[in-house]
Amino acid sequence: MKVVKLLSSVLIVSGMMSVAPAHAAGDAAKGKTLYSRCAICHSLDAGKNMIGPSLSKVMGRKAGTLTGFSYSPAMKKYGKAWNTQTLDTYIAAPMKAVPGTKMVFAGLSNPKDRADLIAYLQSATK
Ligand code: HEC
Repeated sequence: MKVVKLLSSVLIVSGMMSVAPAHAAGDAAKGKTLYSRCAICHSLDAGKNMIGPSLSKVMGRKAGTLTGFSYSPAMKKYGKAWNTQTLDTYIAAPMKAVPGTKMVFAGLSNPKDRADLIAYLQSATK
């Protein structure tokens, strides 16, 4: 009886691990390192647009709405706000998520890298 109980709890734990959500909390420290790939085009300082728009306070911001940055028509009509879900989709494959975007970035294919990066953006751009 005891063994059965132990076995079933082991099964439950391993079962939980295999269905871990795709958007598990990321590691902001790792995300900071990954952000170096974005930093060549994006500043985290408010109002500082470079090749790409400033990502200061990007969370919750509607796409394509920063004044002073010349967005592509595609980004202007994308119409969604940036949150963990929309950012995840965009960073995975920018040209697929927003066809016609002028962000020249191939995408981060690893979901864990994206989660880490988004965790960093959440902590760094409030
Ligand atoms: C080669 C330069 C470049 C790199 C590298 C780059 N971006 Fe961009 N990014 C852009 C440009 C240009 C735009 C504007 C896109 C448009 O108007 O279609 C943009 C737009 C964005 C937007 C939309 C912002 C808004 O105001 O709506 C987000 C979010 C974003 N990038 C995140 C990232 C992240 C995160 C990374 C790193 C994984 C990254 N970008 C890497 C150039 C870049």
